[in-house]
Amino acid sequence: MSTPDGIFISFEGGEGSGKSTQIRLLEQWFRHRGRDVVVTREPGGSPGAEEIRALLLTGDPGRWDAVTEALLMFASRRDHVERTIRPALAQGQVVLCDRFADSSVAYQGYGHGLGAHFIRQLWKLAIDDFKPDLTLMMDLPLETGLERAGARFANVSAAEDRFEKMELAFHRRLQQGFREITAAEPHRCRVIDANGDIETVAARISATVEQFLTSQPA
Ligand code: TYD
Repeated sequence: MSTPDGIFISFEGGEGSGKSTQIRLLEQWFRHRGRDVVVTREPGGSPGAEEIRALLLTGDPGRWDAVTEALLMFASRRDHVERTIRPALAQGQVVLCDRFADSSVAYQGYGHGLGAHFIRQLWKLAIDDFKPDLTLMMDLPLETGLERAGARFANVSAAEDRFEKMELAFHRRLQQGFREITAAEPHRCRVIDANGDIETVAARISATVEQFLTSQPA
């Protein structure tokens, strides 16, 4: 039997959009179809990138300036791409990634004001514009997302809460960023309405993925 083509799918969205639950459900969906799946995340996803994650997500909110933060994101991303993502795709696996470079455009570019152009240059330099085949943009009204996220932080926030401390205006810029990214690349980026119960959102995602798969050349 020939090896299937690898598929790289990223999930994006603001806090509390339900990405991790939905990634696990999509993992099952692919496994039921006989595919090997790697679930990974950013920042992180390879041993070196996980070390950089710890530098990024712990400590004082002002620990890094925006440019340093963006460089660390891309340093971790390059390691992740080279050590985890590309090898998995070469073996015909499905890679499901919780956030990828669009998060740097949204968070560091729009959120922290470095601008999308600056981040896109880093994207080109660090990983030669390597992109997901499909990006699922989990879309939720800001207030709903932050409410959900707030409930979660009460239980598990632990030490990794540096990013959660940032203000509402920041989250508005993020949302704007994700919308503009989607508008610029409508074929790769599909908006998923993340409002609704888990099964409803999962059905929206599998329908979108199914449609993407059938639109691919055989
Ligand atoms: P995480 O706990 O994984 O959050 P989430 O569940 O929201 O994905 O922490 C990742 C944080 O890092 C999140 O607040 C978004 C931020 N981030 C960036 O600022 N830039 C990036 O390029 C990436 C990948 C993440």
